[in-house]
Amino acid sequence: MKALVLCGGSGSRLRPITHTMAKQLVPIANKPVLFYGLEAIRDAGIEDVGIVVGETAREIREAVGDGSRWGLDVTYITQDEPLGLAHAVLVSEGFLGDDEFVMYLGDNLIKDGISSFVDQFRSNKPNSEILLAHVSMPELFGVAELEGGKVIRLVEKPKEPPSDLALVGVYMFDHNIMDAVKAIKPSKRGEFEITDAIQWLIDEGMEVDPHVVGGWWKDTGRLEDMLEANRIMLEAIEPRIDGHVDGESETHGRVVVEEGARIINSTVRGPAIIGERTRVENSFIGPFTSAYFDVVITGSEVEHSIILENSTITDIPGRIEDSLIGQNVQILRSAPKPSAYRFMLGDNSRVGIP
Ligand code: TTP
Repeated sequence: MKALVLCGGSGSRLRPITHTMAKQLVPIANKPVLFYGLEAIRDAGIEDVGIVVGETAREIREAVGDGSRWGLDVTYITQDEPLGLAHAVLVSEGFLGDDEFVMYLGDNLIKDGISSFVDQFRSNKPNSEILLAHVSMPELFGVAELEGGKVIRLVEKPKEPPSDLALVGVYMFDHNIMDAVKAIKPSKRGEFEITDAIQWLIDEGMEVDPHVVGGWWKDTGRLEDMLEANRIMLEAIEPRIDGHVDGESETHGRVVVEEGARIINSTVRGPAIIGERTRVENSFIGPFTSAYFDVVITGSEVEHSIILENSTITDIPGRIEDSLIGQNVQILRSAPKPSAYRFMLGDNSRVGIP
């Protein structure tokens, strides 16, 4: 059995972050979201992994390498254009051959992993198995209709949902999916949809089994979802102080201070993680904050936010909350007069001012 991890796409909902980085590498509790997926694949007993890459191929390769860090054997597959999830399967034909595989969307996080999902496929041997979750607003998702314990229909964002079971970004297929992705036509939005390919399998009389996910899961394609994923993963971290916390500082609750980090005359209230070589000085770090490596926070308050590497936050009077701050960002207090906001913001940035 193989795994196919999708790391192409355009990431338009996470701009401007995705102008300069792959969304699959945004850290959740200071670990790239993709790494959780690779761990889940390894834990399910799969070694042979194909990673579909697009514009951000170089970064993904640099971050993952040959996969040996996880005991995986990684092959990179280029998708020239993000023409849809079914298209990603099509371009992977050479890698997949006739093997069964699990397809995993690289920006999805399944807290309890995928082992039980993969095991069910191994024992029942259907043509396909899809991971589903009960959701409160199924009209926003791809939704499955079940009958007699089988999937009989998939509908994308239905006005009248046939169930509350939404598709989560993990799927299992046997070799028949290759005929399906070749048979379907692009959808109205111009993409080759995996839901159409699965519907094709059903229409051809093949067996598509459901598997309802037990624990928490998230598609981290939007800012709010990233922050929620960060919150959930931080709630489960093991507290550890590998860096330096000086005598004037306090940490409360689940706090990780990574190697080389310094907390000076500050309070860190967990759950929170302060990354390698990051300096927090004369500041307050509130719950659900992840500061990645080489960040500097001085004279400021930050809560419920993700701050990426090499960014600095200096002497900000109000508390920063609910924010995703990219790489090499500077947020600082400017001269008090003339009293004005001064910005240099990338395309599609979002700023909230009270
Ligand atoms: P999506 O989040 O559905 O698509 P996207 O990355 O284009 O983002 P947006 O909608 O914000 O523009 O993709 C899910 C995952 O699949 C994600 O990890 C990217 C990957 N993907 C591919 O590898 N190839 C593709 O053609 C598409 C559409 C997505």
